[in-house]
Amino acid sequence: MRLKHLISPLDLTVDAVDDIIDLGLKIMENPEKYAHICEGKKLATLFYEPSTRTRLSFEAAMLNLGGQVLGFSSADSSSATKGESVADTIRVISSYADICAMRHPKEGAPMVASLYSSIPIINAGDGGHNHPTQTLTDLITIKKLMGRLNDITIGMCGDLKFGRTVHSLINALVRYKQIRFVLISPKELMIPDYLRKDVLEAGNIRHIETDDLESFLPIVDILYMTRVQRERFFNEEDYIRLKDSFILDAAKMQLAKEDMFVMHPLPRVNEIASEVDNDPRAVYFQQAKMGVYVRMALIMHLLALDTIPIS
Ligand code: CP
Repeated sequence: MRLKHLISPLDLTVDAVDDIIDLGLKIMENPEKYAHICEGKKLATLFYEPSTRTRLSFEAAMLNLGGQVLGFSSADSSSATKGESVADTIRVISSYADICAMRHPKEGAPMVASLYSSIPIINAGDGGHNHPTQTLTDLITIKKLMGRLNDITIGMCGDLKFGRTVHSLINALVRYKQIRFVLISPKELMIPDYLRKDVLEAGNIRHIETDDLESFLPIVDILYMTRVQRERFFNEEDYIRLKDSFILDAAKMQLAKEDMFVMHPLPRVNEIASEVDNDPRAVYFQQAKMGVYVRMALIMHLLALDTIPIS
């Protein structure tokens, strides 16, 4: 049965993820072939929390497919300020658009929306929970750069507690063979218990938790850096104490393999020094660009337009 909404990265089967990635790579090679496939369709972007990449890459994706976009970029400019519920909002938006991408600070809000929606809902990030389209962006980037999604040692570094991109990517990668995780964080920002117990330990996935970036840098194929999520902290003092726990700079890059890749979902704050940007192993801006192609493929998939033959 075709997927109706994308709320968690696990809503997609591994085969469906692979199909979307392959379609995204095809679109990247020949974008003009797909330039009219969504003519007459509208995407609503309902962003109750700030975003640069996710919202604008969704909008670019729909425009690149020949469709149109509407929406809001902050809760303040919507009737949420008057007390309107997500359920009522999506019942109305369902009659204005054909598909909707929603970001919300409350975990589960896009899932609630999906219960009341007659159009596909895409979770564009819910609190510290999930960010499935960032995961698709990460996977297509890895596939393009490494040619595979298995047999990879991935270091994840920074805020592994609140970082929803980390949670979603771990959930997605454990479905591929021979994935090994090096989880690098301060003790206060280690992965949540449910990921450690229910996903990594239950799945017998090789992983190590450490606060020592330098020692493990030489063994990783990918280093996935993340920012410390200031907006999820209860107290500013803790944020200030932890925010610069790890800073990747040119000296540390000398410890890494020559064919290692540095990824980051962005935005970056201090955790990657700008001197790293010119290192050919720094792929985070390429990664952000891949997000447009994979979101084009996802929109086609959810609107059942990916089965139309493209000549
Ligand atoms: N990676 C990401 O979600 O970026 P934005 O918050 O800018 O959308």
